[in-house]
Amino acid sequence: AILPTYAEAQGSGGETHQVAGGDIAPLTTQHGIPVADDQNILKQGTRGPALLEDAHFREKMFHFDHERIPERVVHARGYGAHGYFELTESLADVTRADVFQRIGERTPAFVRFSTVAGSKGSPDLARDVRGFAVKLYTQEGNWDLVGNNIPVFFIQDAMKFPDLIHAAKPEPDRDFPQAQTAHDNFWDFISLTPESMHMIMWIMSDRTIPRSLRTIEGFGVHSFRFVDSEGKSIFVKFHWKPKQGLQSVVWNEAVKINGADPDFHRRDLWDAINAGDFPEWELGVQLFDDAFADSFDFDILDATKLIPEELVPVRIVGRLVLDRVVDNFFAETEQVAFMTQNVPPGIDFSNDPLLQGRNFSYLDTQIKRLGSTNFTHLPINAPKCPMAHFQQDGHMAMRNPKGRVNYEPNSWGPTQGGPREDPVRGFTSFAETVDGPKQRVRSESFADHYSQARQFFISQAPSEQKHIGDALVFELSKVERPDIRSRTVSHLIHVDAALAETVADGLGIGLPEAAVAARAPIDDLPPSNSLS
Ligand code: HEM
Repeated sequence: AILPTYAEAQGSGGETHQVAGGDIAPLTTQHGIPVADDQNILKQGTRGPALLEDAHFREKMFHFDHERIPERVVHARGYGAHGYFELTESLADVTRADVFQRIGERTPAFVRFSTVAGSKGSPDLARDVRGFAVKLYTQEGNWDLVGNNIPVFFIQDAMKFPDLIHAAKPEPDRDFPQAQTAHDNFWDFISLTPESMHMIMWIMSDRTIPRSLRTIEGFGVHSFRFVDSEGKSIFVKFHWKPKQGLQSVVWNEAVKINGADPDFHRRDLWDAINAGDFPEWELGVQLFDDAFADSFDFDILDATKLIPEELVPVRIVGRLVLDRVVDNFFAETEQVAFMTQNVPPGIDFSNDPLLQGRNFSYLDTQIKRLGSTNFTHLPINAPKCPMAHFQQDGHMAMRNPKGRVNYEPNSWGPTQGGPREDPVRGFTSFAETVDGPKQRVRSESFADHYSQARQFFISQAPSEQKHIGDALVFELSKVERPDIRSRTVSHLIHVDAALAETVADGLGIGLPEAAVAARAPIDDLPPSNSLS
């Protein structure tokens, strides 16, 4: 038999190479050198060993070998899109932030939605919090509002964040389960952390299995500050309200969707934007002053509490529209670096001990994840307003200061001396008076862990309450250690007695007697509580 030549064996026309010409650009190396053959390694003879001299092969394989960067330590799975924020009501009376001055003005935006606990390849419909991170490229620098779809959080103090996340992620010896909630370590931590009870009610509700990323709310969670041009300040909570309405699926649907299409949420967002069905959210603010803060039943610095909208109505001041998908997922969605400490003049932090810790964490994590102090040189992270500073060098520096001067003060005069401080337009912190000894304590005003959990539960429709009960039974039935189940039910007794009974029944355990005895007198509880 006559064997075919290699070219014949390659099939139609015997063409083994697709070549450049006409409108088709030549393939090049990273250094721009045109490549003649991208199919074969350089070798001695036709069947000999490869040669070290093959710079094209070396470059191609080296680059491939380094393609992966660490996934985010939390919120690893996410999906982003571009759009804009448009101001519909001026807030010039309460903040000097440029983005809130001129009605009708549009500010470019990038938004990344995410789940918290799963890895980068985890399914979209996990029962989990959704991250709702917004980067607004304002004319006074980037403002990152790094929020979630739930208005409260698990913990009050940043010191506990590594413990919370360790407990929520897969267990370290076996590296499973992937799911945030259904395992001993997570519920062990929760059962020993009563401040998480309010968040647990939200997590077990339908909110954590959204129908679409287009149908979730967003919350800044913490109390922030607005500061006006005279240095006066009021507190503000930020809300994103979906024009598409709030929609969730039920657990059985979520399980099926995860199996059939683990990319369900990202596909839905991509398809909607490409079809011109642009998702939109209203930006709402709750504004309150120090007098309200002092009179409120809870501490406004406690991120496990919300400010009821009946007490402080949400004022709608703008809209966020997502109208463009990314050109490249890695360059934009993966490399975008959100940081809570990015706030423009006119917006400031409160002393919320969770927010204060976050402000430290996000810069650290970006350097680890993106690998260089110059991650702001990436187009997705670069401000879209004029900027000038004397920071220089480091890996991948693309924006070193021009000219001779890279320090200040200097005496090089107005044209050569580079940028100067701007005491009028520049960022100044709100001059809050703070007093007291340096110490590690939790304020007594952070002590009530159950009232808002109860208010959330009883505000739900009966079908939604049933879903919360079902979710708790389902999750806790996956917990092996009886003491963890029992300890969790003990907390539920203080939230809603009927719920605690339902869960205990579902788990086939009795109500822990000590917790029943310790429960607040029935007169102190809202009427829906049936245990006496
Ligand atoms: C992401 C830390 C609490 C919302 C992250 C990341 C870290 C982190 C290290 C990964 C960032 C990256 O690699 O790009 C912390 C710490 C917290 C905390 C230390 C508490 C002390 C919160 C809270 C919220 C939140 C309360 C919501 C209000 C987010 C979101 C992302 C994120 C949305 C994803 C950002 C993105 O899409 O790139 N957090 N976090 N975090 N965090 Fe937090």
